[in-house]
Amino acid sequence: MKQVKVFLNEDEIPRQWYNIQADMPTPMSPPLHPGTGKPVGPDDLAPIFPMNLIEQEVSTERWIDIPEGVLEKLLLWRPSPLCRAYNFEKLLDAPVKIYYKNEGVSPPGSHKPNTAVAQAYYNKVFGTKKIYTETGAGQWGSALSMACQMFGLECKVFMVRVSYDQKPYRRLMMMTWGAECVPSPSDQTEAGRKILAENPDSPGSLGIAISEAIEDMLTDKNARYSLGSVLNHVLLHQTIIGLEAQKQMEKIGEYPDVVIGCAGGGSNFAGLSLPFARDKIHGKDIKIVAAEPASCPTLTRGPFAYDFGDLAMTTPLLPMHTLGHDFVPAPIHAGGLRYHGMAPIISHLVKENIIEGRAYSQLETFDVGVKWARTEGHIPAPETHHAIAAVVEEAMRAKEEGKEKVILFNWSGHGLVDLASYDAYFSGKLVNYELPEEEIKKAMETVGKYPKP
Ligand SMILES: Cc1ncc(COP(=O)(O)O)c(C=O)c1O
Repeated sequence: MKQVKVFLNEDEIPRQWYNIQADMPTPMSPPLHPGTGKPVGPDDLAPIFPMNLIEQEVSTERWIDIPEGVLEKLLLWRPSPLCRAYNFEKLLDAPVKIYYKNEGVSPPGSHKPNTAVAQAYYNKVFGTKKIYTETGAGQWGSALSMACQMFGLECKVFMVRVSYDQKPYRRLMMMTWGAECVPSPSDQTEAGRKILAENPDSPGSLGIAISEAIEDMLTDKNARYSLGSVLNHVLLHQTIIGLEAQKQMEKIGEYPDVVIGCAGGGSNFAGLSLPFARDKIHGKDIKIVAAEPASCPTLTRGPFAYDFGDLAMTTPLLPMHTLGHDFVPAPIHAGGLRYHGMAPIISHLVKENIIEGRAYSQLETFDVGVKWARTEGHIPAPETHHAIAAVVEEAMRAKEEGKEKVILFNWSGHGLVDLASYDAYFSGKLVNYELPEEEIKKAMETVGKYPKP
């Protein structure tokens, strides 16, 4: 019988996260304080994040122990299975083996709880009482709501308006796990009111929602803010995906030629790929591909520059690929990929040619996502479709070249709460948004004011 799934026993779960900052081929540029232009220190970040997470953010230790209190919660669904997509392979009829890490098995249905649980744990240890955050598609908001409930913390989520309207069930998941969820832009903050005054129908963006969450959080001294992607410590927590995958591939005597993930802020992609990027830095011949939407082409068309993480310019200046902090992406259905920036770690690795970005249009990604559901059964999240589009491209390339390839990708989440987007696709309402060149010029002007990384 063919082996479809590779499992790890619970006692084989990785006990340390991998920190790529220890292996970077060249040093990364530091985040800058917008006022002084100097690198930010831990004290600058202290009003926003708990100190134990700030320590992780700046750490250069290669391996960081996962606390027992975190492992205990992760074991509710981890280790996640590594699966082979035999049926999709058959459809593609290419000389490739396709493996995927199924992160859709977590309670909220994506990779997001890997860091939500860790962040809630560290906040609890630090003494935080309430966590504020933003969410795009609602995956992150629901993951953090669950994690806060697990550790007895309050949680308030600013949800990007377009997703709030498209995905009411995510809001209900957040409520079920005890959190408060408000659409952003809202009238509860200065940042939100300003946007609404300019455009009462604003679809919102992650950049706006981040500004609202930080502003609201700063009014409560027992509260801290939490981000579901982009930052070093978030990517660190996600590396459990790639570390498990390495053990699972080893069990069946395989190693990937290509590693793929979709990329919004970069966390699920980093989670799978960074342990493999380490191998590449040490000489392995492996291709690592980040798949993003053509409508929000941060890595493929945005400049590498210092920019703010949010619209109201509250965050430090981060060295990253960016479309400009004031960029409002088109309301595409992969809400989790609508972010103007990209994790500094991923941006740096692109600069070092360890990782490459590729962009795919909305209709193309839905087309392959539906094909996946019709062969492999599991219905993917619209974000995950982008990774599948890159898998198909790689498989077709292998066919053209007549080369056998092993492809590994991150199946970042299921789409069962995103069926409204499938409805839009089937009824012909989905369209492609290609970003006009003027938007890139505008981004260049925005970031041209800041220092160069
Ligand atoms: C299922 C899924 N995949 C991918 C992403 C993109 O985020 P990131 O790039 O941080 O993994 C999201 C974000 O919400 C998501 O929900």
